Amino acid sequence: MNVDGKNIRTIWLDKSAKIIKIIDQRKLPHRFVIADLKTVDDVITAIEDMYVRGAPLIGATGAYGVFLAALNAPHDRIGDDYMIGEADRLKSARPTAVNLAWGVDRVLAETLAARLSEKISRARRSAGDIVELEVKNCRKIGEHGLPLIEQIRRNKNGGTVNVLTHCNAGWLACIEYGTATAPIYAAFDSGIDIHVWVDETRPLNQGARLTAWELGKHGVKHTIITDNAGGYLMQRGLVDLVIVGTDRTTATGDVANKIGTYLKALAAQDNGVPFYVALPSSTFDWELKDGVRDIPIEQRAAEEVKYVWGLNRDTPAQVLICPADSPAANFAFDVTPARLVSGFITERGVCRATPEDIRRLFPENSN
Ligand code: MRU
Repeated sequence: MNVDGKNIRTIWLDKSAKIIKIIDQRKLPHRFVIADLKTVDDVITAIEDMYVRGAPLIGATGAYGVFLAALNAPHDRIGDDYMIGEADRLKSARPTAVNLAWGVDRVLAETLAARLSEKISRARRSAGDIVELEVKNCRKIGEHGLPLIEQIRRNKNGGTVNVLTHCNAGWLACIEYGTATAPIYAAFDSGIDIHVWVDETRPLNQGARLTAWELGKHGVKHTIITDNAGGYLMQRGLVDLVIVGTDRTTATGDVANKIGTYLKALAAQDNGVPFYVALPSSTFDWELKDGVRDIPIEQRAAEEVKYVWGLNRDTPAQVLICPADSPAANFAFDVTPARLVSGFITERGVCRATPEDIRRLFPENSN
């Protein structure tokens, strides 16, 4: 995507073909910093500490982690047990986004199947293929989501289309285009007057820090709101459409996404606002049937709730916002049941959030 006139992705292989380059998203929007990942441990730290985040990007980073495992393994230890052990370490870096296991397992399978002399090159190619696939799928999500926005624009006689989104399901969470933002960028690029309500997304403020930043860089009109403002805006007719991303969606249509998504879906249903979830097929978990019961929900450090990062007179600073000795709980995701979801926007088209419709779009994954 375009950042100050430069075309950039969130992850790429360095010219040396030995280093993975990423944008360190912890520093945005105040600093634009590129970080190097050279080892499996670097990749695990980058995923755990959220230098990279967002389901498709986590998947792509994990995929390159398997490549680094093969690349750095002592030649006599590149055997199956070693690679499977490294893949397991990568997969446990974050539990909710199923893309991580999807990306790691795809590259691992390629590597295990390859002859010793080809393991490194096969892993590199396979990780690169995942990156290209996710770029293509996000572009398709934009194409399939655009008619939804065009229809709203027609219903409003060309008036501004107001979309609400939660967290960052933008290109920063993917590689290009984003998932939830792909239809928004497609609409903006086709000349539709579009405005985005951006939930700040406490505690790490992915909305305020990242979604606002990337929409602004693209020139898309947006307004940051507090996480609790969405219901109020919907009651007043100020939201035409909600589009969010997801970290794991069951084959039955239950959607895990950033904590607070469920409350937006409830408010949307109460106010008759369409609530869409945009996702590439890599985010479907084809095994699980009951998302509320079975999707693992990551709990992160209490410090993320108790402290806020920001810029104090041009210097990055961390501020304690509560009594130092108060305990805090940090549930990072929640699950929106399928009954609250108007539909899925995928690379193969739009479908209702029912097992039958999902199966119709992705018959090869049906159990
Ligand atoms: O904790 P994060 O920042 O990784 O959570 C990200 C989200 O919840 C996104 O909405 C989700 O990954 C969709 S990504 C396109």
